[in-house]
Amino acid sequence: MRALSGIQPSGKLHLGNYFGMMKPVLELQQKDETFLFIANYHALTSVNEAAALRAHTRDVALDFLACGLDPERTVFYRQSDLPELHELAWLLSTVTPLGLLERCHSYKDKVAKGLAANHGLFAYPVLMAADILAVQADIVPVGQDQKQHVEVTRDIALKFNQKFGETFKIPKAVIREAVAVVPGLDGRKMSKSYNNTIELFAPPAAARKAIKNIVTDSKTVADPKDPATCNVFALYALLATEPERSAMAERYRAGGLGYGEVKEALFEKIQAAFAPFRRRREELEKDPQQVEEILQRGAARAREELRKTLKAARRAVGLE
Ligand code: ADP
Ligand code: TRP
Repeated sequence: MRALSGIQPSGKLHLGNYFGMMKPVLELQQKDETFLFIANYHALTSVNEAAALRAHTRDVALDFLACGLDPERTVFYRQSDLPELHELAWLLSTVTPLGLLERCHSYKDKVAKGLAANHGLFAYPVLMAADILAVQADIVPVGQDQKQHVEVTRDIALKFNQKFGETFKIPKAVIREAVAVVPGLDGRKMSKSYNNTIELFAPPAAARKAIKNIVTDSKTVADPKDPATCNVFALYALLATEPERSAMAERYRAGGLGYGEVKEALFEKIQAAFAPFRRRREELEKDPQQVEEILQRGAARAREELRKTLKAARRAVGLE
């Protein structure tokens, strides 16, 4: 099985990104052939400052390598090192019905949030289809919010195959139901654009402050509480072992447990889980050359696949 996923370098990565996308992808590298890339062309739809785009791109590379991406197992690259993707995207766009793009929630949500409604934002899913189809991926591990984009990719690939003959493998989204949506500080989906995140590598004081701000109900310490409806518990549960989770749920229901105490437990869990990654990140930060070499090697490997696919697609449509 070949897996591919991508992430936009549009800000600091957070626990939602980690549990929704990074961790599943990092686990896949143990058994599947995995491709992972930094979607910096896509990020241009929301990042308008060159220095910020460069900094975020570098941060995402460091974050993934620090969190356990093994470049010997995972083909790790920057999207912008493969400009040929745009040729593939063009071929795909000629079989993409406008209605398919008009129905995308992500486009509508982003415009509602104030992003410029330009052609790049509208055609975003076509470039995403090119990313996926370029390497003939079988599975695409992503969070729930990307499911529709993978369905668009399938539709485009089917349409192309129907019209020009079998050219693309039809990929499938893989979503971890347990962590389909990680809640943010305010209980909505954790997202950079809602400003409700807990960053993976925030300094401890900033992380503690963010956790203190997680919204809870106004029950007193003595009151019994419902773990199933509590944001703090939902986040704690992602990091705790099964026995720890059950014990904490039991204490919620019994009463006598304050939200302050659970927040402190959550803070400790996050620190413990990410401390080794933080050390590794500091090491890597001192060696930008090594990181650059990893990305270049990844791009060379991805290009081999992309070239093969592109050749088949060019022949299929009659460009060759
Ligand atoms: P953001 O919403 O912060 O801008 P992105 O849209 O860049 O995050 O998402 C990057 C990846 O992380 C996607 O695969 C997405 O599905 C996943 N992801 C983001 N936020 C969450 C969340 N709160 N819960 C689960 N997965 C998430
Ligand atoms: N759209 C994805 C996101 O915002 C990023 C992305 C771009 C992607 N191309 C992809 C994800 C291909 C999976 C496969 O998170």
